[in-house]
This record gives sequence, structure tokens and C-alpha cells, in this order.
Amino acid sequence: MSLISAALKRINPSQTIAISNKARELKAAGRDVIALAAGEPDFETPDNIKEAAIKAIRDGQTRYTAVDGIPELKAAIVAKFKRENGLTYKPSQITVGTGGKQVLFNALVATLDAGDEVIIPAPYWVSYPDIVQFAGGTPVAIETRLEDNFKLKPEALEAAITPKTKWLIFNSPSNPTGSAYNRTEMKALTDVLVKYPHVWILTDDMYEHLVYDDFEFVTPAQVEPSLYDRTLTMNGVSKAYCMTGWRIGYAAGPEELIKAIGTLQSQSTSNPNSIAQWAAVEALNGPQDFIAANNKVFKERRDLVVSMLNQANGLTCPKPEGAFYVYPSCAGVIGKKTSSGKVIDNDETFASELLEAEGVAVVHGSAFGLGPAFRISYATATKDLEEACLRIQRFCGSLR
Ligand SMILES: Cc1ncc(COP(=O)(O)O)c(C=O)c1O
Repeated sequence: MSLISAALKRINPSQTIAISNKARELKAAGRDVIALAAGEPDFETPDNIKEAAIKAIRDGQTRYTAVDGIPELKAAIVAKFKRENGLTYKPSQITVGTGGKQVLFNALVATLDAGDEVIIPAPYWVSYPDIVQFAGGTPVAIETRLEDNFKLKPEALEAAITPKTKWLIFNSPSNPTGSAYNRTEMKALTDVLVKYPHVWILTDDMYEHLVYDDFEFVTPAQVEPSLYDRTLTMNGVSKAYCMTGWRIGYAAGPEELIKAIGTLQSQSTSNPNSIAQWAAVEALNGPQDFIAANNKVFKERRDLVVSMLNQANGLTCPKPEGAFYVYPSCAGVIGKKTSSGKVIDNDETFASELLEAEGVAVVHGSAFGLGPAFRISYATATKDLEEACLRIQRFCGSLR
């Protein structure tokens, strides 16, 4: 009898975490490594948020809280959805978890039965298909195209819907491509979804605030209010508020679903960290101006990286609207040889040879379900990014 369950055997450890760990190990061993693999801002959590956490400790906010969030945080989330997305929710429609990842995990585990299909546009955030598989569902990936800036087309969405489709997982701005859907593009997709009332929409809005060039962020229930009753709108403080380690994510949706997520959480982790919840209250209710200041830096880095990668032999890098990722195609180097004679047969080899030769850690596109490509996170000091891009240019230039 096997120790490990069938459910666990269906999933793999997160490859992005694995590559970040590998880069950290090489660095610790003395190698000059520039890691462009991590999915987190390099900025500090703002001081007012840290102070709120310290105050919470001093005030004795150190005990179990309501399983799915303190009333003060739920109120801040209700206000956020109203203010930023024009969406009206009651506190009973809000759930708070230990990061957006737990909310997503709970939502899928609470709703999927064997055979249920979940549509996931590719390339996708690595955890979606694994969580779906763990929950017993079947991920149905739809490959998008670089020519479409990796955006899902309404025809492709419609073709993938079957009577077994339970969810569409939607992520804009996207990890790993940075692509974000404008209102017209989003409406074309919601027009399809309106025709299929059995399909639920899980929208992962984690990168909402990280958009550039005056791009207007929109979310499905806002663009198509008739989808409100079957949409779970997920968000969190990790990325925009530079709070990845604090582990607070949240979602809003129909009460039945929110209650089910809370039930699962009550039997696993109970409440998210009480101190981090108070910090999140301050994040959502406090000053927001640092976001624009951070975005100015992110935009400059995006422009730098896109321009430098497009000058590398064999790479093509679209310019995305948001997040802090770019997703260049490396189709132009596949089949070439490194100076040591190794054939670049796919994007995984490209990434490992790049790390070996130049000490630059990127994540291969096949980990995100669409290659040959790779993901660069530009949430790294600008001078390191510049150096990393020079090394990538040198590596690509050395391939024959
Ligand atoms: C698209 C996307 N969704 C969700 C998450 C999870 O966020 P959290 O750190 O709040 O769990 C991430 C983090 O990398 C992400 O990129």
C-alpha cells in the first residue's frame, strides 16, 4: 500500500518555487547569479502597514479570529470592491484566506467533483492545473498565441466549453505573460459566458493594480453584471502592497460558495494570521499613493527589458500591459547549439543552459503550459535587470 495518496500523486511541486530555490542555492555556493524567477515585488512593505501590524500585536490582537476574516477586514474589502471595481458585496459574501493561493485552492476543492472540467487559458499560473487535479477535476488548457499577446479569443473559449465545464479560470493581468484584457476584449469573453449559465467564473485579479500606460483594469462581474451570481472575484494584498510574506488573500462571490470555502478552511488552517489581517486592513484603507510610485519603476523596467530582449538573437518579446513579467518566445534559438556543443532542444534546456553559462535564472515556458518561451520577472533592481539582459543577449549571440 502506497504511503502517498492518489490525490497527491496527481500534482507536482511548484516549478517556479523550485527554480527560485535552485538560484538561491547557486548563489549561496558563491556563483554570481541574477534570479529573475521570483513572483514578488522587490519593494518593502510600506511603513504604515508594518506599523499597523506592530500596533495589532501591542493591542493583543493575537488570538484566533473568525475563520474567514475579522469584520474590520471584511468591511475594508467590501469598500475596496465598491471603490475600485463598482461591485457591491455584503460582508457575508467575502472570505479571507492565507494568501490568494489558499482562497483559490479552497474554492476549487469545495466545488469540483471527478470529471468536472476547468478551462484554463495557457500559458497559466503554475498552480491552477495542479490544484484542479488535486481536487479531482480535469484541467482543460486553451493555448493562446503570441500574435494575440497571449489573450484568449472568444471563439476558442466557446469551443472549449462542454456540458462538464464547471469553471473558467481567468487571470488578468496574467502571470506569466503580463497581458491584461481591456474592456472590449473582456466583454467579448463575457458575451460568450452569458450563453452558458452552468459555467462559473473564477477571476484571479491579483495583479489588478500593476498596470501601466494608463491601462484601465476591469474584472468580469463589473463588465457583465449578469455574471455576478456565478463569479468568484479573487484578489489579495501580496503583489500591489508588497506583502507576499504576510499571506492574506480574499475573494467575493455568492454566499453559498463563500460559506463552503469557510467550512473547508475551518477544518484545515482556521483563520489567516490575525496580525497580518490587521496589516491588510491598513493596506486597503490607508494611503494608496506608493502604488503609483512603484508602478513608475515597474514600467521603466518593463520597457528596458522588452527592448533589450528584442535585441537578443532569436528572441521575440511582446510588450505586456501589466504585472511584472514578460514572456519572450525563444522559438528562434531552438535547434541551435551552445559553445559547449549542447543542443537547445526546448525551452527547459534553454533556461538550464542560460543558468549554467551566464548565471541568469528564468522559468521555462513549458512550466506554464506554453512554449518555447520563458518568463522573466522584472521585480528586481534595475541595474541587475540590465546586466541580466546583457547576459541573455550574449548567450543568445553565442548560439550557433
Ligand atoms: C496569478 C497569481 N494568482 C495568485 C497568486 C497567489 O498569491 P498569494 O501570494 O497571495 O497566495 C499568485 C502568486 O504568485 C499569482 O501569480
